[in-house]
Amino acid sequence: MDNLRAKMEFAASFLQKRLPCPAETGIILGTGLGGLAEKITAQVLIPYKEIPYFPRSTVVGHEGKLVGGRLAGVPVLALKGRFHYYEGYTMREVTFPIRVMQLLGIKNLIITNAAGGLNPDFSPGDLMLIKDHINLMGDNPLIGPNDPELGPRFPELSRAYEQELQQLAIAKATQVGIGIKRGVYVAVTGPNFETPAELIFLARIGGDAVGMSTVPEVIAARHAGMRILGISCITNVAHGHQPHAAHHEEVLATAAKAAKDLERLLELLVVDI
Ligand code: HPA
Repeated sequence: MDNLRAKMEFAASFLQKRLPCPAETGIILGTGLGGLAEKITAQVLIPYKEIPYFPRSTVVGHEGKLVGGRLAGVPVLALKGRFHYYEGYTMREVTFPIRVMQLLGIKNLIITNAAGGLNPDFSPGDLMLIKDHINLMGDNPLIGPNDPELGPRFPELSRAYEQELQQLAIAKATQVGIGIKRGVYVAVTGPNFETPAELIFLARIGGDAVGMSTVPEVIAARHAGMRILGISCITNVAHGHQPHAAHHEEVLATAAKAAKDLERLLELLVVDI
């Protein structure tokens, strides 16, 4: 644990020297959603491979860069590309960037992802505000010794996704005519897409969308006391009753289309977050 703490501090102090301005809002750009990074002005772009102790992205569609600068005039720190459990990283590695953000003073975290739509009312291209999650990954980034300076041993997750931020997102989306759904995100490890029987199960236990990320980061960020807004981009139909095989290419192509709405929404959101 001491070692982890030392690595976090080393990475944070490296970034502090390179980043243009202190930021309180962090953004994680999910699969195919990295385009927002281009809207960040006065930016400093740092490849993950240059950041001490940062893991590296291995997935197509995840570029692996940290971007500091201003979005709509507001200082932000964005992660273009994240680390997935299915890549073979431990949960602590997957959430290492969150810990570095914590040390850098990030208070609000906007987490985006690509997800399959379990809810029959959802279509590819829809945006879904995450109102809650179900962790089916069978692991947790907080397992192991707890560092009380980072957060409590038994953190509370009854309101992991802040109501106030969800209301703000709905208000901003309505203002510019972007439709937005709300639902429960179920996290699985992947990397395979689900069987029809699994999809029926996931919908029955209350899931509206399924994906392979986000939940580890949310757990670490809540442990760190951050306010969280989660948005899924529904990239494919994931209804067990009408099996339709999902493909990574389809996920990327749909995310690229929905990214326009998401980018617009995030630009409006960061101003009032
Ligand atoms: N299942 C799991 N993860 C995903 C999916 C899916 O259908 N689409 C995008 N990420």
